[in-house]
Amino acid sequence: MGVADDPAVTLYGVTKTFGGRHAVRGVDLQVHRGSVYGLVGPNGAGKTTLLRMMCGLVEPTSGRVEVGGRPVSARRTPAGLGALIETPGFVPHLTGRENLRHLARVRGVDAGSVERSLGQVVLLDRADDRYRTYSLGMKQRLGVAAALLSEPAVLVLDEPSNGLVPTGVEEMTALIGQLGRANVTVVVSSHALADVEECCTHVGIVLGGRLVADGSLADILGPARVRLRASPHGRVARVLGRTHPAVVLKQGRDERGLFVDAADESSAPWLVQSLGEAGVDVWEVGPARRNLRTVYDELRRTLCPTR
Ligand SMILES: Nc1ncnc2c1ncn2[C@@H]1O[C@H](COP(=O)(O)OP(=O)(O)O)[C@@H](O)[C@H]1O
Ligand SMILES: [Mg+2]
Repeated sequence: MGVADDPAVTLYGVTKTFGGRHAVRGVDLQVHRGSVYGLVGPNGAGKTTLLRMMCGLVEPTSGRVEVGGRPVSARRTPAGLGALIETPGFVPHLTGRENLRHLARVRGVDAGSVERSLGQVVLLDRADDRYRTYSLGMKQRLGVAAALLSEPAVLVLDEPSNGLVPTGVEEMTALIGQLGRANVTVVVSSHALADVEECCTHVGIVLGGRLVADGSLADILGPARVRLRASPHGRVARVLGRTHPAVVLKQGRDERGLFVDAADESSAPWLVQSLGEAGVDVWEVGPARRNLRTVYDELRRTLCPTR
């Protein structure tokens, strides 16, 4: 069985309602082993509910959830899954190490895993300081260490960077990337799109309880496009629209003037030639970078035009 046939987490037509109101609507989703899957969306989109269903903390109203090929049952953490959904109840006057040792005992995990987890989240040098002296970023990393104690194959993190100062966000993003490279499958929700773009291999965009886009980061961003600056602008659009109606994807104005974003990069020579033949001056041709923010904003504008 190939990697693609062996998902770490699968949701089949999952819906969740609370008192008749939909939090999640008909979501089909696969998280492949070894991927870092970022769930993005505005507040109230349904991200936490999706993660809680993966962890067996919330039962779907309909549909089903599997982790490691086994159905998730309600009120039981799936085998091989670790999660940081809410801030764990650490004891303030105990050190980071003592807190983890206590958790390891309670969960029946061997003490060696405490040192391994502390190392993974880069907290070994502060492990003997009391929890209450930790920065918020360190508290969050200790939470991740707690989730890693049982060496889970799948790690679920709900907005782990929320409320952190920029250096804390950077450290959390680096940590998530590092875990991914160490072959931990990570599912992380966030509304920091740039950070998701940095550390995730796959992205799901959630709007109003629906998964409106889902795939590898490269698929979500789509092929690189070519940005043309040329004049007269009206003729550019007319020529492109006539010779190849599908080619003009966007026209606009930025700090450097009018532009047209057209087709994929490979068509640049052909575009320049046909514009030249039509008497248009092309004075700049370059790549139009799409990032997750661009894609996300386009989707929100298309699907939620009133917001
Ligand atoms: N336990 C709950 N009881 C009632 N409504 C809930 C509960 N949990 C979530 N919701 C509602 O479900 C929707 C999705 O919430 P949530 O999954 O927390 O979104 P997100 O994490 O994307 O901000 C929201 O409208 C929220 O108010
Ligand atoms: Mg949430």
